[in-house]
Amino acid sequence: MTTPPFSPQQIPPSLIATLPGRSYTDPAVFQREQELLLEAMWFCAVRSADLAEPGSFRTVQVGRENVLITRSRTGELRAFLNVCRHRGARLCLEETGRVRRTLQCPYHAWTYDLDGTLVAAPNLVKMPDVDRVAYGLVKVALREWLGYAWVCLADEPPSFEDTVVGAAVERLGDAAALEHYGTERLALGKRIVYDVRANWKLIVENFMECYHCATIHPELVDVLPEFAGGYAAQSFVGHGAEFGEDIRGFTVDGSEGFPKLPYVSGDQDRRYYAITVKPTVFINLVPDHVIVHRMFPLAEDRTVVECDWLYAPEVVGSGADLSKSVELFHRVNIQDFEACERTQPAMSSRAYRGGGVLVPAEHHIGIFHEWVLEKLGAGPAGPVLPGE
Ligand code: FES
Ligand code: FE
Repeated sequence: MTTPPFSPQQIPPSLIATLPGRSYTDPAVFQREQELLLEAMWFCAVRSADLAEPGSFRTVQVGRENVLITRSRTGELRAFLNVCRHRGARLCLEETGRVRRTLQCPYHAWTYDLDGTLVAAPNLVKMPDVDRVAYGLVKVALREWLGYAWVCLADEPPSFEDTVVGAAVERLGDAAALEHYGTERLALGKRIVYDVRANWKLIVENFMECYHCATIHPELVDVLPEFAGGYAAQSFVGHGAEFGEDIRGFTVDGSEGFPKLPYVSGDQDRRYYAITVKPTVFINLVPDHVIVHRMFPLAEDRTVVECDWLYAPEVVGSGADLSKSVELFHRVNIQDFEACERTQPAMSSRAYRGGGVLVPAEHHIGIFHEWVLEKLGAGPAGPVLPGE
C-alpha cells in the first residue's frame, strides 16, 4: 500500500478526512456499491405518470441489473428483472415503449403477460413440463411514493417507511411538512436528463454542501442570500433557507413564480428545502414547485441524472411559461455537474491518493462517508476501503 500524503492524525481538528481518491475511480469499489447499496436499498426508478397507460413500460439500470417496470392491464405498476427465462436474452431492448398485451422476447419469441406470467412460447404444447408460472419473469419489489415507483432488488427489502419516507421526513422535521407539497398530485412541467461524467458520490457530496454556492451559483445565491455563508441547504433542517427580501419567486431572476401550492404553510412560504434520500434521490421544495433528481449510477465515472420540475396541474395545463422557473435550477445543475466533472479526473491523481479534507461547513458529508463505508462493510469510519 502506498503511503498517503498525510495520515488522519496530521489533519487539524477543524478538518476531517474524505474518502481516498480510489473510492471514486476503482471499478471494484463501484461493483461493491452496486451490490451492497444500489441493489440492496430502495431505488427511485420511474415517475408513475410516465407509465400512465396499460402496457407502457420503462427499463432502468439498478446496480448490475436491468429492471423492467410495466403498467398491467388492471392498472398496477409491476417490476421484473428484464431477463427472459428461456435462455436469458434481454426481454425489452428499448428504454421506454408500450405493448398491447404482452411482452415478447426478441430471441425465440417466449411471450409474457404484463403480470410477468409466461403465456406462450413456440412449440410449448410439445413441452408440457414447462410451468408457465415458475418460468414467469422474476418479480422485483415495488412501492409508489411521491408519484414515483421505487424498486428494491433485495430478497428482503429494508423498511420503506424507515429508509425512504423516514429519511426524507427527517430533513423537514415532520411528515406533514412534506405532505403539504402534495408531490404525488403534481404534474411534470419539465424534465432534463444530464449525462454526468462523474462518480455518483461526488454528486451526492456536492448536493449536500453549499460551501461552493458563493463560488459557482450566483443566481441561486441571489435568490437565497443565506447560502452565501456556505452552510448547506441541509443545515437548514426544519426551517429551510429564506428567499432574499426583494425576491418575488424561485426563478432565475427572482421574478414572480406561480401561486404557492395550496397546502404549503405560511412557515414554508418563501423558503427552500433540500432533502437527500440516500442513495440516489434529491428533492427540492419551494412554494410553487418541487424538483426531483434521480441518479442512475452507470459506471464508476458516469452517472445519469434525471431531473423533474413538478408544478400544480393547472399551471402545467394552462401552458404557462415555465422557463424562468426551470432555468434557475437547470443552471444550478449545470454548474454543479461541471464541478463534479472537473473533480472526477483528479480522483485518480496521486495528489488525492489519501483523499482531501472537509471544512466545518461540510462535516455532515463525513457522516455520508461513514454511511457508505458501513454499507460496504468497511468497518469503523475512516478513509480505508476493503482491500487496502
Ligand atoms: Fe427469450 Fe429464448 S431467450 S425466448
Ligand atoms: Fe451546488
